Amino acid sequence: MALMLCFLFVHLVAFVYSNGDYQNDKLVSVTATIGMPWPLPQQYSSTPAVYTINRNVFKFRATDQSCDILESAFFRYQTIIFGYREKTLRFHPKLFLKAGSLTVLDVNVKSKCDRYPYLGMDESYNLTIGAAGATLNSNSVWGALRGIETFSQLVLQQNKDMFTVNGTTISDFPRFQHRGLLLDTSRHFLDVSVIKQNLLAMSQSKFNVFHWHIVDDQSFPYTSVEFPDMSSKGAYDSRHIYTQDQIAEIIEFARILGIRVIPEFDSPGHSQSWGKAIKDLLTKCYSGSQPNGQYGPINPSLESSYSFLSKFFAGVAKVFPDHYLHLGGDEVNFDCWKSNPNITAFMKQKSFGTNYVKLEEYYVQRLLDIIGGMNKGYMIWQEVVDNGAKISKDTIVEIYKNEAYMLHVFLTTLKGYRTVLQACWYLDLIKYGVQWQAFYACDPHEFIGTAAQKKLVIGGETCMWGEYVDNANVLSRTWPRASVVAERLWSAQSVNNANAAAPRLEEHRCRMIKRGFPAETVNGPGYCPQEYSIPV
Ligand SMILES: *[C@@H]1O[C@H](CO)[C@@H](O)[C@H](O)[C@H]1NC(C)=O
Repeated sequence: MALMLCFLFVHLVAFVYSNGDYQNDKLVSVTATIGMPWPLPQQYSSTPAVYTINRNVFKFRATDQSCDILESAFFRYQTIIFGYREKTLRFHPKLFLKAGSLTVLDVNVKSKCDRYPYLGMDESYNLTIGAAGATLNSNSVWGALRGIETFSQLVLQQNKDMFTVNGTTISDFPRFQHRGLLLDTSRHFLDVSVIKQNLLAMSQSKFNVFHWHIVDDQSFPYTSVEFPDMSSKGAYDSRHIYTQDQIAEIIEFARILGIRVIPEFDSPGHSQSWGKAIKDLLTKCYSGSQPNGQYGPINPSLESSYSFLSKFFAGVAKVFPDHYLHLGGDEVNFDCWKSNPNITAFMKQKSFGTNYVKLEEYYVQRLLDIIGGMNKGYMIWQEVVDNGAKISKDTIVEIYKNEAYMLHVFLTTLKGYRTVLQACWYLDLIKYGVQWQAFYACDPHEFIGTAAQKKLVIGGETCMWGEYVDNANVLSRTWPRASVVAERLWSAQSVNNANAAAPRLEEHRCRMIKRGFPAETVNGPGYCPQEYSIPV
């Protein structure tokens, strides 16, 4: 009877709260969906048939190919789905007719596992839950990972040992190949444990690229085997570095989750911290005829710069298994180059006139040749192409400037470059109110262009630049708003109605809380069945 009253009360509260207009975010709550996945699958249907799952009996079972990636997913998801029973007795007030019970999810992976995830990997899968049992089919292990995550989101806890899942049919694949999240570990250092938590959160929203903006002007936490002084002199201090072992640990953690790690070593600008250890790497700035003690971008006129870059990047290429490196190339300030008489002489010798874009192009082209010679691909920021530099066609260009970004997507694809959009997804720019709808509204394909141009848009990235975040707040400021971008990049183009998505996002956020992430609120007033708590 008491239980019955409790159910009634929950219903009443839900009724009262669901009666408002979502837009009025200060006044009313968004009522979370129950057992709906995020991001929304390409094709998804569910039935009222409810299957029970006893957590003491249920198993994942590989019926074809298997490997460490799949085995560790089975292990991980046992805990993600069933492991929170002490803390979260989450009773669902719905009375349901039991249609049967599930004891196993058969996971059918057709081809042998790849060792590392890569651009263009097959992440498609089919999931069926019905009277005949539960089956997940995929061509690759990556599809299986995405499908198991979806499965985990459908399962609801009813009491201590009993869980339920509705009859479901899903056919799913990502809309874009490249779905990334950028973290910046130069402006503030982030612990390995925080980066791992972030990777876990990424996998639960089906992100597949960790863009690691690892160094910048402010600090150089990357430990180079060839140039150890770069971190010993360029990091904030000796504790704010990533050792080779820690970097390997992060890459391995990401691999198991189907996430590529693309490190960014931005140059020739944004490289003040590199200059602390490498003599004559940075351009000396002049006031009149004298050096003024300031340094500018990497000096493109010295051969020593290129021999350094060859050796440095040969090391980087060995450390990071992904085919792509991000080489930056943004915000190169020409003033220092202009002030330096040796650069002026070099410009003359090369017949560049006073066109410093040509000098930048010269630098970038030589750097790309060095990286290309290592059999690696590269990503760069948009200016290199905006400035008209002619670079190799297999470059991936990332659009980051807020101004007219869809025009830049258009222009970059018109020039034939593969393009990744970041410009509309700055998580670090925060303001009061419901902010995620603007992220949700941005679509990398919303420009007038040919089908070939659309095809060149391979995806997008959301970013959390590090000026105002560190270990203390990076996860809560990133999540669940990053998930909004994840849905835009995974789900069908037509899944773009923020009002329709809000209840599902509310559930996704509460699910993250339940899974232990300090995900912030995004829809205004409301509550989760289980609130976030910090052990005292
Ligand atoms: C699951 O089934 C119940 C009825 O047993 C129904 O009320 C509920 O809406 C279904 N959920 C989904 C996600 O289809």
